[in-house]
Amino acid sequence: MKETQAKKFAVPRGTADILPQEVAVWEKVETTARAILDLYGYREIRTPIFEETELFARSMGQTSDVVQKQMLSLQTQHKGDAEDIAKAGFSLRPEGTAAIVRSYIENSFEKKEGFSKLFYIGPMFRGERPQKGRLRQFHQIGVEAMGPGTASPLVDAEVITLSMQLLKALGINDAKLRVNTLGSVEDKQNFSKYLREQLKPHLKELCEDCQNRFERNVFRILDCKNKGCKAVVEKIHLGSAPLSTESHQYFTEVKTALTDLGIKFEHTPSLVRGLDYYTHTVFEISSDALGSQDALGAGGRYNNLVTQLGGPQVDAIGFALGIERILLAMPKEESPKPQGLDAYIIPLDEPSLKRAFRYLEELRRSVYEFKVKDNIPKNFSIDMGYGLGSLKSQMRAANDRGARFVVILGENELEKEKVTLKDMSTGVQEEKDLNDIGAITVKLAEGSI
Ligand code: HAM
Repeated sequence: MKETQAKKFAVPRGTADILPQEVAVWEKVETTARAILDLYGYREIRTPIFEETELFARSMGQTSDVVQKQMLSLQTQHKGDAEDIAKAGFSLRPEGTAAIVRSYIENSFEKKEGFSKLFYIGPMFRGERPQKGRLRQFHQIGVEAMGPGTASPLVDAEVITLSMQLLKALGINDAKLRVNTLGSVEDKQNFSKYLREQLKPHLKELCEDCQNRFERNVFRILDCKNKGCKAVVEKIHLGSAPLSTESHQYFTEVKTALTDLGIKFEHTPSLVRGLDYYTHTVFEISSDALGSQDALGAGGRYNNLVTQLGGPQVDAIGFALGIERILLAMPKEESPKPQGLDAYIIPLDEPSLKRAFRYLEELRRSVYEFKVKDNIPKNFSIDMGYGLGSLKSQMRAANDRGARFVVILGENELEKEKVTLKDMSTGVQEEKDLNDIGAITVKLAEGSI
C-alpha cells in the first residue's frame, strides 16, 4: 500500500511559539511591568483581540501604513451564525489604543472616574513582512492615561518617565529617548503645509511611496528609510516649522519636567510617528542592541481621538513597548531551572499501580487544600510515570524530574496499609499510613522529613 505523507504544519510566518523554557522570562517581564505599573497607579484593562476594522481606520488614519497595508481582517468560511463578522468587517487588533478608547467611551469611564490610568499586556497583529524584531503577531505592554485633567505637561513627563522606568526595571539602561511635538490639530495642519512647501522642489528625488504620501500623509516622508528620501529630509529646515506659542510653551514645560526628573532625552524635530491620532508630544525609545527595527516603544498625546470616536472632549496620552524587542535588548541571563516536583509516586506492582494512581489524586487534592487554607504562595507539583518499571528506573525518573520526595507503594506497603516516604536530598525514609494523607501533605509543605 502506498504511504501518503502527512503534511507537516509549521508555526505561521512572523509568529512564534513561546516554549515552556521561554515562559519564565516572559513571566519575569510581565511581573516586573505590573509592579512598576501599579506603582504609577495604572489598572489593567483587557479588550478583545479583534474589533471593527473601521475603529482602527478612524483612529490610526486611513492613510497610515498600518491601516493601508497591514490589517489582518477576519473572514467567515460559511454563511452561518458568524456571518455578521464578515459583514461588519472585523480585524485583528494592530495596536491597543483604539480599542481602549472604544471601551473608555462605551463604559462611560469619564463619568465614573476623573482621570483613568489604564494598561494592557497582550498580542497585537500586523500583516508586515517579517524580519528580526518585526513580527505578524507581537506583544505589547501599553498604557493610556485618559480623562479630564490629563492635559498637563506633568502627565506627559510622567508617562514618558514610566516608559523609561519600565525598561530600566528590566535591565535596559541604554535606551535612547527622542521627543518632539506636533502641536495642536491646527499646528499639525500648518506643519504639513510647511512640509509640502519645503519638499515640493525635491518631489522627484523622493521614492514612489513618498511621492504618494506627499498629498495624503506628508509626515510619513520624514520616517522613510529610503536613502534618497533621507537625504531630502536632511536638506529641509524642520527646526523652523511653525508652532503656536501655546504649543511651544507646553512642549517647553514637558522638557523641563523631564529634566527635573533626571530623564535624558534628545529633541528630534523629524520625529512625527506614523499614526494620525497624535497631537503635541510624541516620543520614541530605541536601543542599539536591536537591528534596523530599533524601536523598543513609542507613544504620544492624542487629545482629539476620544471626541473623534464619539466620546466626550477629554485629553489622553499613552505609549506601547514591544515585548519581543524588550527580550532582544534585555541582558541575557541564564534561564531559571524549571521547578522540580514536590513528590513522585512510585508503584512497584500491578495492584499498587491502581492504588498509586488514586493516591496521586488524593495527595494533589489534599496539598491544594492545604495551600489555600494556609495561604502558601508556592505552587506544588506532584506526578507519576503511569506505568510499572523497576524501582531503580522509577527512582531515576524521579531524579530527572527534580523530585523532592518519592512515595513508594508496593505489595508489602499495601498489605500493611503503609507507604514509604523518601526524602531525595537526605536519603532518609519513613513509613507512613496509607490513609493518613494529611501527614504526607504536611511533610510536602514543610519540604523535609
Ligand atoms: P507603535 O509605534 O506602532 O505604536 O508600536 C509600539 C511598539 O510596538 C514599537 O515600538 C515596537 O516595539 C512594537 N511593535 C510594533 N510593531 C511591531 C512588529 N510588527 N513586530 C514587533 N514589535 C512591534 C503603537 O502601537 C501605539 N498604539 C502606541 C501608543 C499608545 N500611542 C499612544 N498610546
